Amino acid sequence: MAEDAYAIRGGNRLKGRVRISGAKNVALKAIIAALMFDSKVVLENVPKISDVIELLHLIRKLGVKVEFSETNTLEIDSSSLSENKVDLLHASKTRVSYMLFAPLLHRFKKCFIPNPGGCRIGARPIDRIIQGMEKLGALIVYNHETGYYEAYLENSVHGYYKFAKPSHTGTELLIMFSVFGNGEILLENAALEPEIDELISFLNEGGAEIKREGKNIRIEGVDKLNQTKPFQIVTDSNEAVTFAVLAIASKGEVIIENPPVDHLTEFINKIKETGNAAEILQDKSLRFAYKGKIKSVSIETAPYPGFKTDWQPNWAVLMTQARGVSYIHERVFENRFSYVAELQKLGANVAFETVKVDNPEEFYEFYYEKNKGYQQKIKITGGYPLHGGVLSIWDLRAGASSVIAALIANGGSIVNGASIFERGYENFIEKVQNLGGQIRKL
Ligand code: EPU
Repeated sequence: MAEDAYAIRGGNRLKGRVRISGAKNVALKAIIAALMFDSKVVLENVPKISDVIELLHLIRKLGVKVEFSETNTLEIDSSSLSENKVDLLHASKTRVSYMLFAPLLHRFKKCFIPNPGGCRIGARPIDRIIQGMEKLGALIVYNHETGYYEAYLENSVHGYYKFAKPSHTGTELLIMFSVFGNGEILLENAALEPEIDELISFLNEGGAEIKREGKNIRIEGVDKLNQTKPFQIVTDSNEAVTFAVLAIASKGEVIIENPPVDHLTEFINKIKETGNAAEILQDKSLRFAYKGKIKSVSIETAPYPGFKTDWQPNWAVLMTQARGVSYIHERVFENRFSYVAELQKLGANVAFETVKVDNPEEFYEFYYEKNKGYQQKIKITGGYPLHGGVLSIWDLRAGASSVIAALIANGGSIVNGASIFERGYENFIEKVQNLGGQIRKL
């Protein structure tokens, strides 16, 4: 029986060129938004990762026809969409299942959606999103017996909603929900993540009228959406960061041939602060290279344009190789440090740090509750080599940390929970092997 694990022999310098895959967090939303189109939709550069495959199972169950080519082109025909109840089993495997509120409510005026699944990186409530849809005209009831939200749309979508705190997928869902609205709909204090602007481009190319003015988004309702040309999914900034960190932490050099440069500004700045190379080359590729030593650089995660929460587990591994002390302070989610115990198994000097911030309710993006005992900050004392060990992956982004750590450690490691990592990384083994890393699936 195949094991859900990687065997890794660490210590090789990773060198060479890599082409990264399409962005998970753009592809998933485009697939859901495709169900709002009258025409067939073609998406190019869609990553073949398990999060996408799960979502495709889910929409097939709703009656949608889907063809996924060998070359990462996805054709979606939603003319046969016939179900308004989302399957519990598949929904529990993918966080974005609740975004189906938008297409299903528009098509059927009522729908049944279970509480979302996804990575366990915090409570991850969807209260802002439910409240937003209600403010724009939906009626939503949570059925405690079935675990399903029951949603109804009796009149057209209209009005405005102001997010108390921004939400990335919340903003995307409310944009989709408002596309066929009545008159102009305004979303205030919306999130700024670039993935949202990719979704806006996709919808606008299909005839939607969505304008961003900073944190405000205005949507003028249209009658229908039709695709006129295939939409290209931008490449994945999270995958780019993993290869960049692998390059520098392994004392190597990697050129990412097709990076989403604009999405990586803050990461590139931080790499430069470490004293290593992060250069945009003439052909728009990105070169990351080790330049003799790594300076300690502390980070605080934040919504875009800040340092992304998804990148910090990667950063932690880099900082184990930097001489001196650095800190990582997580502001977006309340449980993003499941990798700490794993790094400690490899000999990393990482410890939780007590932190006092003046106004935690404002400072953190999640709803902060007094006396709950959060662990939001770690201290890394770096500059020592890691050794091999047996590791476990508890969430996707923490998985990147374990895999990178094992690849730069001296000796062999077993990393359990490969399937969690593969929710977001396509052909990772092959890409790492091409750069000279030793990794195989057990
Ligand atoms: N939050 C609430 N109530 C809500 C919505 C959010 O309390 O109604 C809290 C969340 O629990 C979190 C914070 O607000 O503490 C920010 O959450 P946000 O809604 O912005 O995050 P998300 O939409 O759930 C997306 C990505 C994440 C990424 C974050 C930040 C997708 C599918 N997920 O999550 O990606 O980390 O934005 O950019 O796009 C990943 O790919 O591994 C991943 C977790």
